[in-house]
Amino acid sequence: ELGKQKPLKEVAGIPLQAASVDNWSQIQKFEAKPDDLLICTYPKSGTTWIQEIVDMIEQNGDLEKCQRMIIQHRHPFIEWARPPQPSGVEKANAMASPRILRTHLPTQLLPPSFWENNCKFLYVARNAKDCMVSYYHFQRMNQVLPDPGTWEEYFESFISGKVCWGPWFDHVKGWWKIKDQYQILFLFYEDIKRNPKYEIQKVMHFMGKNLDETVLDKIVQETSFEKMKENPMTNRSTVPKSIMDQSISPFMRKGTVGDWKDHFTVAQNERFDQIYMEKMKGTSITFCMEL
Ligand code: PPS
Repeated sequence: ELGKQKPLKEVAGIPLQAASVDNWSQIQKFEAKPDDLLICTYPKSGTTWIQEIVDMIEQNGDLEKCQRMIIQHRHPFIEWARPPQPSGVEKANAMASPRILRTHLPTQLLPPSFWENNCKFLYVARNAKDCMVSYYHFQRMNQVLPDPGTWEEYFESFISGKVCWGPWFDHVKGWWKIKDQYQILFLFYEDIKRNPKYEIQKVMHFMGKNLDETVLDKIVQETSFEKMKENPMTNRSTVPKSIMDQSISPFMRKGTVGDWKDHFTVAQNERFDQIYMEKMKGTSITFCMEL
């Protein structure tokens, strides 16, 4: 049934959409290929943004080619399932190589063939506070994910990792920890925001492409928040209201760094900083929280 909120189910303690869990054996058996590129993110960390950047690079800056289909369909979403439609795995299987795929899975739940084939991984991380704010508004408008409750209630769900795809902390730490053992380009949402051209160049080199300055400048322009918010192929405007009600909150909501300041109370911020320190101690990762 379209748009019906269903409770999440868990795999090894990680809450996921029920249909993904029901399809878990197919997902785990997914056969990656050595020339696959997998876009990896915790939800609301800039997935759509990096997808459009990657596609623009892949299409050598040809925007019309990027308009061939809506962005959700361009890069199969490995764990996605909504029977009777073809699953993410089935869509990936039907795709010609070299494939660009995407996932929100934490490292421990990734289909093992991605590691076995030494695929390329492009990870984008976003600071936890903005990520929480973005996820809260997304769950308000998304009619398939559980209702987020009040902001206070959501704050508790997020810090305890009781949200779809599990805790932000473990997700980011997990990918960060292995970044030098595999072919992983680890990027930050805040860096892309601050210096898009430089970060887009990194992605280009990682993809083994070489585009000239004018093409790079065009990619910077076309992947700006303002452009992507207006672009019907990236702004989710074709998704039925019964799945995403963008009158509640638009998918392309603000696209900024530091919106958490308009949501976190002083007490919540202090508490969050405390929890953050405990959970992230021992890692060298640092995030920019405002620009
Ligand atoms: S999802 O549903 O997990 O795939 O969402 P995701 O695409 O990862 O994250 C959505 C947030 O990214 C913002 N966004 C952008 N920011 C800057 N520039 C561009 N081009 C861009 N495109 C999407 C989007 O607005 C969501 O963040 P918030 O803070 O809610 O605005």
